[in-house]
Amino acid sequence: AELPPEEIARLQSLCESLAREAGDLVRDRSGAVIAVADTKSSVNDVVTAVDREVEELLRARIRAERPGDAFLGEEEGASAGTTGLTWVVDPIDGTVNFLYGIPSYAVSVAVVAGEPDPRRWTPLAGCVHAVSTGATWTAGRGQGAFRDGARLRIKDAPPLGQALVGTGFGYTEERRRGQAEVVAQLLPQVRDIRRLGSVAIDLCLVADGRLDAHYERGLNPWDVAAGTLVVLEAGGVVQGLAGEPASKAMTVAGPAGLVAELSAALEAAGARELGHPDGETGR
Ligand code: IPD
Ligand code: CA
Ligand code: CA
Ligand code: CA
Repeated sequence: AELPPEEIARLQSLCESLAREAGDLVRDRSGAVIAVADTKSSVNDVVTAVDREVEELLRARIRAERPGDAFLGEEEGASAGTTGLTWVVDPIDGTVNFLYGIPSYAVSVAVVAGEPDPRRWTPLAGCVHAVSTGATWTAGRGQGAFRDGARLRIKDAPPLGQALVGTGFGYTEERRRGQAEVVAQLLPQVRDIRRLGSVAIDLCLVADGRLDAHYERGLNPWDVAAGTLVVLEAGGVVQGLAGEPASKAMTVAGPAGLVAELSAALEAAGARELGHPDGETGR
């Protein structure tokens, strides 16, 4: 069942206030030396104490405000709920940039209906708050996408040959080998490639026309939940290859015509043969 517009608007403003509060904590902590606290899938898949602290804050706030909703975060995993809504949060998207003091990192907070899986979910509200610049993108299902309060409409699609395309790479050697082969074939076919280091911000840049498209293999729900809604509500599309639903296997975002052209180029470059990063079959 669809939620009433007032409820979506309330969720959107809650996403924004949570992302801003979490962003204040990140900004506070960024004054001190940031160290790697742990590594995950590889030595380059790093986590800092701040990632964990921020996720704890978001979890506590959401539990207090919305006790019946489920929660899914990158660092501490999932907890179940009873309402059919799930908060999907990335406490810091762009941890490597955060570690090096490069400005592209963000807090991403979203709430989705249904399973927290891009093949099946319905994103209802989301906010991406870029901590160092303060840029804040919000979206509510059926209510538009905004940057700092200004309504966004995605640009008309340029041809692939004139498209500035964002992408990103996973953290394991095996994933990167495949991703490198695909990007090597794509690079001569586009205006240029950007690897900015936070897919949440990249999706928002697609919505506000500062990137023409973004594609990436291996993304997780917390990376894309808020940014996906920002792109959709700006009038763009977020898909897998060949118009399939976006999934961990592939996410392609941008204006519809460019997404179709880029998806075809990715397939021709062998992206489908890479399969699902976790070895799942189907799409
Ligand atoms: C990563 C960033 C990066 C993308 C990776 C993500 P994290 O998220 O969004 O740009 O290429 O796929 O895992 O680990 O910094 O939250
Ligand atoms: Ca991470
Ligand atoms: Ca992330
Ligand atoms: Ca993260």
